[in-house]
Amino acid sequence: MAFESLVFMSLLAFAISCNAATTASPSAIASSYSLTTSTSLPFPTATLSSSSAESYMKSSWPLNDDKIDFGADDLSFVSDPFPDSSSDSNSPVLQVTYPAGSYSHGTGGAQFTALWNPSSGDKFKSMLLTYELAFDTDFDFVKGGKLPGIRGGPEENWCSGGNVANGSNCFSSRVMWRTDGEGEVYSYFLLPDGLCDNSNYICNQDNYGTSIDRGSFSFVTGQWNRVTMLVRLNDPVDTANGQVQLYYNNVEAIDQSILQYRNSSKVYISGFYFSTFFGGSDSSWATPNEVHTYFRNVQMWASTEAA
Ligand SMILES: *[C@@H]1O[C@H](CO)[C@@H](O)[C@H](O)[C@H]1NC(C)=O
Ligand SMILES: *[C@@H]1O[C@H](CO)[C@@H](O)[C@H](O)[C@H]1NC(C)=O
Repeated sequence: MAFESLVFMSLLAFAISCNAATTASPSAIASSYSLTTSTSLPFPTATLSSSSAESYMKSSWPLNDDKIDFGADDLSFVSDPFPDSSSDSNSPVLQVTYPAGSYSHGTGGAQFTALWNPSSGDKFKSMLLTYELAFDTDFDFVKGGKLPGIRGGPEENWCSGGNVANGSNCFSSRVMWRTDGEGEVYSYFLLPDGLCDNSNYICNQDNYGTSIDRGSFSFVTGQWNRVTMLVRLNDPVDTANGQVQLYYNNVEAIDQSILQYRNSSKVYISGFYFSTFFGGSDSSWATPNEVHTYFRNVQMWASTEAA
């Protein structure tokens, strides 16, 4: 083949691959699904050590049960370690500490739920969450760990840690990092017939969550990564047409629409599920060294409509 043809073919292939990846900002995604109301978590204007950080979060964020579930000592607000063009005038960022040897069971990392309900008293059925996340430059991913997502009630404290979804209690849709920073969505929801035979899903034993599209994107250490997750509950409740979409740095990485988050109209979306730790429930997941992640620019959009 002539050199010119090769160049042309390469350009064509490049153009096709660019075309295949859907790129969209969080606000554009929100607007395309008519998610018209939005909220964001305020951040302090000065750095705060862990005890002051806990007071700040309790007074400024709508925490479920007015508490940090675990890890308040591992949360603080620090100067942005990776300032870039999206930095908000060097506003402090939320730092999570994972002590050496820590993995789940409240040994390191942190967990809380920030509730968000419509003022009408109605309940949200669609929600888009976006946040930016950074890992220390020398962060060792080991086998994996949890990252924040969206959860639903009425059992707001269930659907994690092996407490299963039964269709009328709750669901959760978090993110996980795996070995080498591979990303996925990690969910507690019903498992309709055939879902676990679908190669996009890895169903875990012992009632733990389900991995969706593991490795469809990869986290990078030492810089900000943007995670944007859309959850739309299945509607009607007896049909597996619920959706999860995940955009990594504004590029679509995951889009699944065969999910059953619920089989009862009692289940709705509660808000932001901040949940991060190494694991996994045994020490093979533990971090060998103390490491940190950082969070900033947490924003959500929602609608009381599922579709
Ligand atoms: C909902 O799903 C559970 C399984 O978790 C099942 O036991 C129950 O019968 C289902 N309810 C309805 C109304 O389909
Ligand atoms: C679902 O789980 C909740 C606990 O989250 C429990 O109270 C409820 O009885 C369960 N419902 C069914 C139908 O199993």
